[in-house]
Amino acid sequence: PTIYVLNGPNLNLLGTREPEIYGSDTLDDIADRLEDRARQLGVRIDMRQSNHEGHLVDWLHEAQAEGAKAVILNAGAFTHTSIAIHDAMKSIVTPVIEVHLSNPHARESFRHRSYVAKAARGTIAGFGALSYQLALDAAAGL
Ligand code: DQA
Repeated sequence: PTIYVLNGPNLNLLGTREPEIYGSDTLDDIADRLEDRARQLGVRIDMRQSNHEGHLVDWLHEAQAEGAKAVILNAGAFTHTSIAIHDAMKSIVTPVIEVHLSNPHARESFRHRSYVAKAARGTIAGFGALSYQLALDAAAGL
């Protein structure tokens, strides 16, 4: 089984981007650790990042078309703005798990609304890079 791990805008700069909020791990560091965990769980991960909203929409459609077991989605700031991503999630039956490194509810009020959460199977937020690993455990167990 394959689990898509989709990352949205600015997450390519993890490691140097506001490390006091997002930690010092790069997205590649997170991918390496997820690969290890995936091997233990007997699943395969397909990890991607884009700064473009439409790519995330296309990849959600692709996840279903390719028969992915689940999607782990950190939509970055699109979480708080994108009805298109929300609708894409609603358009597929593949379960989507929302993840965030930080806890958006403990931050600025503009981060308190999540269009992703409304269409997600569940949300894991606030545990830094560990959020991804917890989401992978959840995805593998679905
Ligand atoms: C984030 C939280 C979002 O509010 C923010 O726009 C991000 C990262 C997180 O992983 O903590 O880009 O999704």
